[in-house]
Amino acid sequence: MSKMKYLIAGAALSLTATVTTTAHAADGAALYTAKMCQTCHGAEGKAPLMGSYPKLNGQNKDYLVQQMKDIKSGARANGMSMAMKAMVANVSEEEMVAIAEYLEQVK
Ligand code: HEC
Repeated sequence: MSKMKYLIAGAALSLTATVTTTAHAADGAALYTAKMCQTCHGAEGKAPLMGSYPKLNGQNKDYLVQQMKDIKSGARANGMSMAMKAMVANVSEEEMVAIAEYLEQVK
């Protein structure tokens, strides 16, 4: 039983490490939910909360990365971008790429 507890703790630790430090394509899906993106863009980027929020699935990776960078830097700024800006404030460029690689693949 105590061995089981160690296994669970180890799994939780490695999951945290994956979400915070690495950013491979496969982690994009985990990052997408860990960073709470689904609260506005919906599961898999398919079902935005409001009609004025963009769908993200199937969009080109390069475009997605550029938009996230522009919203983060303030180069893209409109009434709607403010909601999004706070969300990408602590998303690194490496993480943006991983998330974009994931979203591009979602049909
Ligand atoms: C609080 C709601 C909210 C959350 C949470 C949120 N977004 Fe957004 N997002 C928006 C809105 C609103 C826009 C449109 C901004 C604009 O019009 O400039 C947007 C725009 C985008 C765009 C540009 C889409 C396009 O077609 O140009 C991308 C990419 C994006 N979000 C990704 C993400 C990712 C990845 C996360 C999680 C880290 C996230 N968003 C979290 C509200 C949100």
